[in-house]
Amino acid sequence: MQVVKTAQDVRGLRWADPTLTWGLVPTMGALHEGHLSLVRRARAENDRVGVSIFVNPIQFNRQDDLDAYPRDLERDAELLAAEGVDLIWTPSNTEMYPPDFQTYVSVETMTAGLEGAARPGHFRGVTTVVAKLFNVFQPTRAYFGQKDAQQAAVIRQMVRDLAFNLDIIVCPIVREPDGLAMSSRNVRLGPEARQAALVLFRALNAARSAWENGCRDGDRLRDTMRAVIAAEPLARLDYVSAAHPVTLQEIEGETEQVLLSMAVFIGDVRLIDNMVLKTGAVE
Ligand code: PAF
Repeated sequence: MQVVKTAQDVRGLRWADPTLTWGLVPTMGALHEGHLSLVRRARAENDRVGVSIFVNPIQFNRQDDLDAYPRDLERDAELLAAEGVDLIWTPSNTEMYPPDFQTYVSVETMTAGLEGAARPGHFRGVTTVVAKLFNVFQPTRAYFGQKDAQQAAVIRQMVRDLAFNLDIIVCPIVREPDGLAMSSRNVRLGPEARQAALVLFRALNAARSAWENGCRDGDRLRDTMRAVIAAEPLARLDYVSAAHPVTLQEIEGETEQVLLSMAVFIGDVRLIDNMVLKTGAVE
């Protein structure tokens, strides 16, 4: 496994043998089982696997959130070596954003709501860095988690709009045995908050039960999730949504498919979770 910093080194390794397929897993480090599930899928589907680790400052709209983001490169590298990763790319801030940097990629309509509304500028930061990672790395396939459902939908849209020559693979959410979606932020939950954090999955499951009992109405699904969150004293709701899984438009009236999603503060830790429901199927 090679660990490199510069775009030039990445290109040298990636194109050493142009016949090989490469899977790229873009990350911000602090790796957990969710990331490793992406790495394993990339390992199974490509000749070579690269992982980028870069805590992207321009996708954080709060300095304290950026400062608190966990970083542990040594541990990340050990985990990735054990998964048979070929290349780790850890660019510096100045490699990604030299002092005269002034070009941004922005996906418009579908970034207005949900995480986009709660975190102004977030998706512009994500799509800009991901476009640059794709441009330098030129992977055959890139892997993202369904946990960040809006991010996955926005990146798919960017790839279509700008005709990037790669496949986007979105992998299922990985959960702890009790249902909490894995996240780098979970390490910041104390024991009481960790227990309270289960309310997100509980709310999604309540909406799923309603769906299974025939409820197809956007408002009723949102109300069901809101009621469960409201009953948890340590939880403060940021938003709940029942939206179309591709366009991310909120469902008004009835639907055959829905992306249920939410962001909830447990103390000062903001957690997100989601679930896709389709008539006749649950993802
Ligand atoms: O999902 C993440 O970890 C980040 O948003 C990503 C895709 C690596 C871009 O910085």
